Amino acid sequence: MVVKSEFIPKTSKVSDRLSGTADVPGDKSISHRALILGALAVGETKVVDLLESSDVLNTAEAMRAFGAEVIRNRDQSWSIFGVGVGGFAEPNKVIDCGNSGTAIRLIMGAMATSPITATFTGDESLVGRPMDRVLKPIELFGAFSLSRENRLLPLTIKGSADPISINYKSSISSAQVKSAVLLAALNAPGKTVFYEPELSRDHTEKMLTAFGADISTELSDEGYTISLSGHSDLVSQNIFVPKDPSSAAFPICAALMVKDSNVFIPNVCQNPTRNGLIVTLKEMGASIAIENLKNFHGESVADVRVAASELQGVKVPQERVVSMIDEIPILAAIAATAEGKTVMTGLRELRVKESDRISAMANGLLANGVKVEEGEDSLTVFGVGPKGVEGGATVKTFFDHRIAMAFLCLGLVTKKSITVDDSRAIETSFPSFFKLMADLGADIS
Ligand code: S3P
Repeated sequence: MVVKSEFIPKTSKVSDRLSGTADVPGDKSISHRALILGALAVGETKVVDLLESSDVLNTAEAMRAFGAEVIRNRDQSWSIFGVGVGGFAEPNKVIDCGNSGTAIRLIMGAMATSPITATFTGDESLVGRPMDRVLKPIELFGAFSLSRENRLLPLTIKGSADPISINYKSSISSAQVKSAVLLAALNAPGKTVFYEPELSRDHTEKMLTAFGADISTELSDEGYTISLSGHSDLVSQNIFVPKDPSSAAFPICAALMVKDSNVFIPNVCQNPTRNGLIVTLKEMGASIAIENLKNFHGESVADVRVAASELQGVKVPQERVVSMIDEIPILAAIAATAEGKTVMTGLRELRVKESDRISAMANGLLANGVKVEEGEDSLTVFGVGPKGVEGGATVKTFFDHRIAMAFLCLGLVTKKSITVDDSRAIETSFPSFFKLMADLGADIS
């Protein structure tokens, strides 16, 4: 139960130009995967720039509970000494993944084809989020689960002692579901095939390829097909984690909104399955330059240079949403400052994120004087352009990091300051957010 008196509210006020270099933290998705694949590999996997946020630290703790040795080195890199595919030990405690849907869903997949039993739980937000999407496929591999009503957490999984490979057609494009299936498939004999309508973030496929797994992706009329042949060893790797584009989204949008700003963000992951926000902002008229493109072990990375820009509202193509699924809150916030309306459709998945993000954004914007239209799976924001957003309200954030950061960025340009009721969730993904924004010149207190 979140006790209101423990809330840590924050207020952002109109700020003068933002400038300087924003060194955002390592990518959250890649950090989770580095720990999990490191734990399933043979030998030492070394990870540089791992995101040290509460979500990722929960994954590190879980990998220790399954028998891997996970160490933070003096030079701040991390070492994972893996137990090999199929080598997970049975944890002697409950696996608590806190706020992280990615941690819990990927780890459930990773243990589902080993003959061990594990019990999982999470915080107040996570115990309300759907787990059925992962339980369904892992049961086809032969795992068994026992859960609360509606298959919610806490729940226990008895992994399969004699797993079989599967063919699984997912109706949603979810990297968490896809990754759970691929991780389970590692310890099943033969070929597992997974289909999804649009390509969700493909860090698991890229990292599995680097670790030596037999995996391929094909595009057909039906969507994307990812095939993995189980029972091959994973070979430990050195991993450099690129900077998180979902965290970079906040200083990028803040710099676009605050007059005369100029901000430089080095080494941001440019994986095309993650770049929907940059594509959309450019369509809106944003001045964003992508420089010094390079490759970090299969992931493309570049420096991002942003200058304050006057933006126009746009209609976001529905099929692009999957590549900006975590950026819809900040897009909705910046759309309020653009000229004209921004229409976002195909947002159904946002209802089951860390909070119901469609409703959290719609209510927060309305309270701050922005006209919005909320549909079951859509959100339209009527931007006010140069006349300026009113502001002045306190926003309910429902312990959702991205709702909190989106409104704190918007508050830098509203006529009256914006307060978020609680900022603690920011620790789950972006522990350095306040220092980084203050160093750029943002007034958040
Ligand atoms: C993630 C996948 C996405 C995203 C989440 C991270 C991942 O979730 O929203 O923040 O690392 O696999 P879904 O797979 O549920 O869309």
